[in-house]
Amino acid sequence: MRSKGIFLLLLLGALTAYYVYLPIPDDIEERWKLMVTDSFFRSLSHLADFSEMLGLKDYMGVMMFITFVEGVVPVSDERVHVTEEAFDGVEVLVYEPGQQGGDGELRRAVVYLHGGGWCLGSSRMGPYDLLARQMVIELSAVVVSVEYRLAPEHHFPVPFEDVYRVVKHFLQGQVLAQYHVDPDRVAVSGDSAGGNLAAAVAQQLPQDPGQRVALKAQALLYPVLQPLDLNTPSYQQNQHMPILPKTLMVRFWSEYFTSDKSLFRAMMSNSHNSLESAGLLKFVNWSALLPESFRRPYEYRAPVAESLDPSRTIASIVDPRASPLLVPDSRLRPLPKAYILTCEYDVLRDDGAMYATRLRRAGVEVTHEHYSGGFHGALMFTLWPTDFEIGHRMKDNYIRWLKQNL
Ligand SMILES: *[C@@H]1O[C@H](CO)[C@@H](O)[C@H](O)[C@H]1NC(C)=O
Repeated sequence: MRSKGIFLLLLLGALTAYYVYLPIPDDIEERWKLMVTDSFFRSLSHLADFSEMLGLKDYMGVMMFITFVEGVVPVSDERVHVTEEAFDGVEVLVYEPGQQGGDGELRRAVVYLHGGGWCLGSSRMGPYDLLARQMVIELSAVVVSVEYRLAPEHHFPVPFEDVYRVVKHFLQGQVLAQYHVDPDRVAVSGDSAGGNLAAAVAQQLPQDPGQRVALKAQALLYPVLQPLDLNTPSYQQNQHMPILPKTLMVRFWSEYFTSDKSLFRAMMSNSHNSLESAGLLKFVNWSALLPESFRRPYEYRAPVAESLDPSRTIASIVDPRASPLLVPDSRLRPLPKAYILTCEYDVLRDDGAMYATRLRRAGVEVTHEHYSGGFHGALMFTLWPTDFEIGHRMKDNYIRWLKQNL
């Protein structure tokens, strides 16, 4: 009896150690908390793989559990007024300062796009709700949090188009007036895949002949910006890091475009480039675009490019609405000033760092904040029990930048 108990305890211990323990670099704070947090994500991911294998539910369908666990019903209080609206048919949450009108002064506004690899997440998650409220209170801003449709049910370009429709709708004179928003003080912002959508929207607007109101700023939090080279130093260094291992990021990329698994496999081996995309590799050439300190001891090798069977060529991977790093400099020049946050222990670090270089070279004002002990998604880990000091610091610095630049 007793030995059985001990055996079970040992087994449980071994399993926990297997799941929880992860070699995390020493300079990441609160390592154990991060390991435990990540073990939850990894177990869920294994469960999702298993479920897909058995044909029960597809991988992303199971991963959506995270979104439900963190789900909230955003409610108004004395300081923040929340309404659910449809902007040109797309669901949004509008957060406004509680005291209506007040001094009659026009407010600034942020259109916020949640992360989750275009496949997961919702504006109705605790951390996004909290962030929106904080922005309303500290910036006296109107925050529009967009509930865009998700892949794999809605592949590219649906998520982008939903977001773009919302931004176009909001930037109309009479709509801005209705929310007491100053047309000269509107920003677009988002984290991770939301940062990708934000960057893409900022690029698309100046191309739009009918567009009169321009964005004042874009704030990109550890954004995803290109799928051509999935073997940058940050992908190599951080392929097994918490929250966003390389396999998951590649899975998000491939599912954004297609449910055909052959793209996932090709992307995992960085052999998904066609002769067409090869011409754009110069825009993601990390050996030319990363500052010396970001290159680390990695040798640049351009991804191989083959003439793929046309049925395997996915044209969308070179579409700038999916891959904002792939535009020529002339399309970067008209862009609003940018805030880019990157984390050392994040596969996406070099995407953000390369975009910072390219924007600066094109003459755009850029604030690049790099967190040397940062991990992907940290800014959303601000709620107990998965709250991290670094997440709070990131949030404070991000909101401070908006305060000074919007
Ligand atoms: C990348 O940049 C290096 C210079 O840093 C250059 O030698 C190489 O040809 C470039 N490769 C591509 C594909 O642009």
